[in-house]
Amino acid sequence: MNAVYPGSFDPVTLGHMDIIHRAANISERLTVAILNNPAKKSMFTVDERIEMLRHACQVLPNVEVVSFRGMLAEFVRGIDSQVVIKGVRNHRDFEYENQMAQFNKMLNSNLETLFLPASTALSLISSSAVKEIATLGGDVSKMIPQNVYNKILQKLSRV
Ligand code: PNS
Repeated sequence: MNAVYPGSFDPVTLGHMDIIHRAANISERLTVAILNNPAKKSMFTVDERIEMLRHACQVLPNVEVVSFRGMLAEFVRGIDSQVVIKGVRNHRDFEYENQMAQFNKMLNSNLETLFLPASTALSLISSSAVKEIATLGGDVSKMIPQNVYNKILQKLSRV
């Protein structure tokens, strides 16, 4: 199976990394696809997000990191994949992701969405919480990969 794990990854968290490791383990090839949406305000540029994710995934030989624009259903078709993997932390994630999965199926009938339950210890982590806590001076070192932590400190000029 050639699977796609899409997201904003602004920035990638340890919750995302857990899903990436587990998805890579059950896939021949995993494409981590960062949505490039200029309309959405982000802390990190797409190039910064690609760099951070590539660094965090360098030990995983079957994982590649790319960005995409537009519709996920079209991106997946364009790279000859038919499987999208999503991590689900709680019932709110499930309701939202289930709706997305139905839309994506309508847009590309070949596409299947697989949900991986978030590991309990990581299920509170979100990119938005990381950004808020870090901006307010809190310690996010246990929520994100080390290279991302260094990058956040740089961005917030705390090094
Ligand atoms: O990490 P996120 O922000 O939850 O990721 C959301 C993402 C990028 C997976 C989702 O917004 C997406 O697939 N966007 C692409 C646009 C699209 O295909 N929209 C129609 C699906 S309903």
